[in-house]
Amino acid sequence: MSTETTPAYSPGLAGVIAGETQICWVDPNAGLMYRGYDIHEMAQQASFEEVAYLLLNGEIPSAKQLTDFTQQIAAQRELPAPVVKMLRLLPRDVHPMDMLRTGVSMLSMFDRELGDNSHAANIRKSIRLIARVSTLITDGWRISQGEEPLPEKKRDLTQAGNFFYKLTGSVPQDWQIRMLDTIFILYADHEFNASTFAARVTASTLAGIYAAVTSACGTLKGPLHGGANEESMKMLEEIKTPDRAESWLKKKLAAKEKIMGFGHRVYKKGDSRVPVMREIGRDLGRRTGKEQWIPICEKLEEAMGREKHLCANVDLYAAPVFWMLGFPPQLNTPIFAASRVAGWCAHVVEQHDNNRLIRPRSLYTGPPARPYHSVSSNGAASSEQ
Ligand code: COA
Repeated sequence: MSTETTPAYSPGLAGVIAGETQICWVDPNAGLMYRGYDIHEMAQQASFEEVAYLLLNGEIPSAKQLTDFTQQIAAQRELPAPVVKMLRLLPRDVHPMDMLRTGVSMLSMFDRELGDNSHAANIRKSIRLIARVSTLITDGWRISQGEEPLPEKKRDLTQAGNFFYKLTGSVPQDWQIRMLDTIFILYADHEFNASTFAARVTASTLAGIYAAVTSACGTLKGPLHGGANEESMKMLEEIKTPDRAESWLKKKLAAKEKIMGFGHRVYKKGDSRVPVMREIGRDLGRRTGKEQWIPICEKLEEAMGREKHLCANVDLYAAPVFWMLGFPPQLNTPIFAASRVAGWCAHVVEQHDNNRLIRPRSLYTGPPARPYHSVSSNGAASSEQ
């Protein structure tokens, strides 16, 4: 008989502290800090590059450090030619997240520092990953639409501005860049969310940063995580108008269906990012004349609060925001990835800098010990002969 004591078990690791981090703190009471800075203070003013630098290096950059970092990212955007060739081989209807996961995996083989997990090499590879995840998304999308990728000509554009440009061929207006910067900042990190945890588990075996980010891309795609922002748009399109929201919701809840864009493992009093995303949505509604989407979300919020006491998460509002910015819904989760790659990389750097293998236990619920009879002594097996 085993003398092992049964450790505490929490399904889905709910409430379990699985590691330490200095990168990000999610306050269950609707707060979020990156390295001690409240994201609400940064979201409206900082650039995504400033936040990515902070996540990776621990401090806000000086003006010169920010310029250098921004230029380093811009200089690394171009994909190796064989990776572009691979994108052309994929089926046209492949999901952009599958394309991205495969692209990140392939990129690893073109990085001369692949096998170097030192802090300095990990930071350099993070810069390349932040730059090229965006390019994989924009170039992959254009190829899947039968269009040619645009050359990397706009080094003066930031990641947010370049994302618009590489997708559409037009340089966006300043307010569009500001909005996408804010969205990228909101999505950049969220402590031990599923994809980041997947990245850290992979990194903890001393596999490299590309393997970790590949794991993270695979994990982000699921609809309970990053995939929710694509599913939320399908839901809003089905509802169509605010007056239909409550009855639609009640029908889905009666059928015991999950409502995308609601609920969260950590936040119980609201998602810290929702008020900022909702405000962007209202602004976009006015600018684009598509004023129905945010009121649908608000009606759903009210009804969901009454029916299930569940709060909206950021993906509910991200869906119409991306739509009004002109992005197709299949790119919702990849846009999340274009930002979260900064957080994934920061966590891999932190994991490698102070590594211990992440290897939990499981609670065995299979059959009790029983005698084994080999196939040769088994009646059924011999009757087959
Ligand atoms: N729609 C309907 N019911 C929901 C729900 C949702 N979006 N989210 C949670 N619930 C219900 C569960 O069914 C459960 O009800 P029960 O106690 O009657 O069984 C209860 O609320 C607790 O939920 P639980 O599944 O234990 O929460 P979790 O912490 O395991 O899951 C999520 C968190 C995010 C996976 C979950 O809320 C969800 O699936 N949300 C929709 C997907 C989504 O928006 N994901 C993005 C997250 S940022």
